[in-house]
Amino acid sequence: MNLVPQTPPHPSGDKRFKLLDVAIKRHQFRQDALIEILHTAQELFGYLDNDVLIYVGRAVRAPLSRVYGVATFYNFFSMKPPGEHTCVVCMGTACYVKGAGQILQALEQKHGIKAGETTEDGKVSLVTARCLGACGLAPAVVFDGEVAGKIGTEATLERVRPWSEGSSRTEEAQP
Ligand code: FES
Repeated sequence: MNLVPQTPPHPSGDKRFKLLDVAIKRHQFRQDALIEILHTAQELFGYLDNDVLIYVGRAVRAPLSRVYGVATFYNFFSMKPPGEHTCVVCMGTACYVKGAGQILQALEQKHGIKAGETTEDGKVSLVTARCLGACGLAPAVVFDGEVAGKIGTEATLERVRPWSEGSSRTEEAQP
């Protein structure tokens, strides 16, 4: 007998759930494709909220604890809305031995948030990565998608500072 799992439509009518259904079907509702499916969900929604995790769990028939476990284990998944700007500090071994820990700590102190959180004004999200694949550039930090290598703590704080100050610096730079 061919038992094809059914995903009931999401009651919100949000079209993104339909797109998520397509990804889930493409992975044949497999639990071992949970990471790929959650990746798609995060791309669609920007982050993984409870509603999305429950939906995915039901679709692949995985216990919610497992879905939460995967979503919280990997640093590339975010459970909160991302901020206007994102700073990713690589905490892989190569970066860590070159001072990534101090960089992260300084950012956390300066902005009053922990890794994985966003400042209250929604301006800055602080994220950590396991390895950016740029170990030769250690320590590596990504500022809004732009990779900076061999960067120090002060330089990192300097790059992030204008984000929390709004656009004043840019305006100051105007003639
Ligand atoms: S450990 Fe940081 S890029 Fe590999």
